[in-house]
Amino acid sequence: MSKDSNSISQRKKEHLELCLTGEVSFKEKRNGFASYDFKHYAITEVILKKISFKTDFLGKKINYPFLISCMTGGTEESEDVNTKLAIAANELNIPIGVGSQRHALESTSFHKSYKIIRRNAPHIPILGNIGASQLVLFESFKPMRKIVELVNADAMVVHLNSLQELMQKNGEPNFTGLLKTLEKLVKNLDVPIIVKEVGAGISKDVAKKILQTGVKGIDVAGAGGTSWAGVETLRKKEEPNYFWDWGLPTSYCIRKVYKLKNEFDFFLIGSGGINNAVDMAKAFALGADISASARTVLIQLDKNGIDGVISLIREWFEVVRKILYLTGSSSIRDLQNHKLIRKDKLI
Ligand SMILES: Cc1cc2nc3c(=O)[nH]c(=O)nc-3n(C[C@H](O)[C@H](O)[C@H](O)COP(=O)(O)O)c2cc1C
Repeated sequence: MSKDSNSISQRKKEHLELCLTGEVSFKEKRNGFASYDFKHYAITEVILKKISFKTDFLGKKINYPFLISCMTGGTEESEDVNTKLAIAANELNIPIGVGSQRHALESTSFHKSYKIIRRNAPHIPILGNIGASQLVLFESFKPMRKIVELVNADAMVVHLNSLQELMQKNGEPNFTGLLKTLEKLVKNLDVPIIVKEVGAGISKDVAKKILQTGVKGIDVAGAGGTSWAGVETLRKKEEPNYFWDWGLPTSYCIRKVYKLKNEFDFFLIGSGGINNAVDMAKAFALGADISASARTVLIQLDKNGIDGVISLIREWFEVVRKILYLTGSSSIRDLQNHKLIRKDKLI
């Protein structure tokens, strides 16, 4: 392994460890869902058993509109994590993302940690992943094709992590040429492109610029869950960090980006601090087509294994089923029909 790939691998290992053991949540800022309540619909005629969560995603049928967010790959530990997450995703028949595949382009030593996902989940949608700061440096799209092939990806995710790069020791905070590169990438890659943040959120203005390049999906990955400024601060063992709580809350991002549905054909992924069923349902109600979580799923896997992850997601959707019933919504789409009310308007 080269010095570079060694240090990426070490970083990935520390990310996993810190996300499992460190205090890496936002300190004061929240995802914003607590400002809303569901509108109780006293004359509901919805039949609980008839509610189905099955939907289409990236040309495949999935059982729940839920994505296990991009997390890991490129270390010894990540092979085990990805194997287990893939087994859970396969059993649930839901999509899963891989962590940044940068390491796979620098060394073949941990290719298995990525490939293992498709091996354990032959039919579900799998999302490849690369950082914007790497993407802008590629001289051709050959590396992108290589990483799509490595995981047999149904879509490629480009992650925007300007804050994390800025906070990271030896980070690369440079996205120069990103929008032009995205435009070319969309035309040159055989799979759709999704753009995501990693916890600082995507505003409506930013989403619009991204969608103008032809990108098919936006994952807002807003503030209120895992703080990547926090993770990098703990890695550097430095305090204080004035940017720990930087970012746009998830609920705000979903609500604003959803408005672009009038102009663009895209799917909206609501993530960033989705740590329980009620917040997930509120993400749907504000306009998310699909919801996603990262660290909560990782923690559940660590504590309760594959079965724990499977039961958690099933439980969450049983709660969503009840919320649909109580709000008189026959489907998640129906839940987007003014079923939320701001708490300050309830007086
Ligand atoms: C251990 C770990 C590793 C991550 N690595 C990546 C990554 O390589 N690429 C990426 O796009 N996002 C990565 N993320 C960010 C998540 O996909 C997600 O956007 C972010 O953590 C916010 O979601 P959460 O609050 O549910 O954790 C990682 C998250 C975790 C917990």
